Amino acid sequence: MIEVKIPATSANLGSGFDALGLALTLYNTVYMEEWDGADIASLDGVEVPAGEDNLIFATAKRLYEICGKPFRGMRIRQKNDIPMARGLGSSSACLVGGLLGANTLLGKPLGTEDLLNLSAALEGHPDNVAPALLGGLVTCAMEEGKVYSVSVPVARGVHFAALIPKAPLPTSHARSVLPQSVSRADAVYNLSRAALMTSSLFSGALENLRVATGDRLHQPYRMGLIKGSDAAFRIARELGAYGVYISGAGSTIMAIIDKQNAGFAQEIERRLMMNGVFGWTVRLLESDPSGAVALATAT
Ligand code: HSE
Repeated sequence: MIEVKIPATSANLGSGFDALGLALTLYNTVYMEEWDGADIASLDGVEVPAGEDNLIFATAKRLYEICGKPFRGMRIRQKNDIPMARGLGSSSACLVGGLLGANTLLGKPLGTEDLLNLSAALEGHPDNVAPALLGGLVTCAMEEGKVYSVSVPVARGVHFAALIPKAPLPTSHARSVLPQSVSRADAVYNLSRAALMTSSLFSGALENLRVATGDRLHQPYRMGLIKGSDAAFRIARELGAYGVYISGAGSTIMAIIDKQNAGFAQEIERRLMMNGVFGWTVRLLESDPSGAVALATAT
């Protein structure tokens, strides 16, 4: 039996649409072993597909096929701490979990680079799967099916407050509202800020993050899909967040805060409710430095 632990991820960081992502200290855990057919269950009451359409099962099967190995089936047990369809990389965690678990069961025929290329091809963009596999703050680009990426640590003393709405937002919908083309001015606006984001979050030039989270490619089109997001941005800034952005495709709003900002989580929960924004949960997270890990376990 293989146990795989996969971190949540927060893509885009505002300006780095489909190019930047960050691994977080919130995890899904998957237990996998070879089995006859599909035996899939959740260990924590979160409803998961129990058939061959289960994403972990399907990606594990795909990896066996790619490696030319016969696939009998898989017994899978899942613990899903990463909330689904909230912009925290839950589907990437399943993809990476399935690939890494299957690769480990087969004796690691593929290396990390192969798994990264494969998971990005399956997901369609690399900015969640790359940090899920590599950990840290990842800058990535895809060219001719290959992912080019660098993972760096986040500066010390930075925390990430995930403001998680009750309502999910499917990525397919959040992508469907985006324009097909953008102006040169908007492209330059974003690429300058995305470059500023990586260097600032890595080096600790945190005063740049308010500008570095600025975006004209996706957030302006997605804000209207997330009820309460305007209030969340405003209050997070009032409470001293360095930067605020829609995590991935949403619906989570991420506030980058100082570790010393101890009252932030409790206060923003209170202020959201005072502003008529109900049902949101706040998770205080740090950057995960190492990415997904797979271990052989006895049970
Ligand atoms: N970069 C992606 C998006 C992340 O914003 O649509 C969500 O998977």
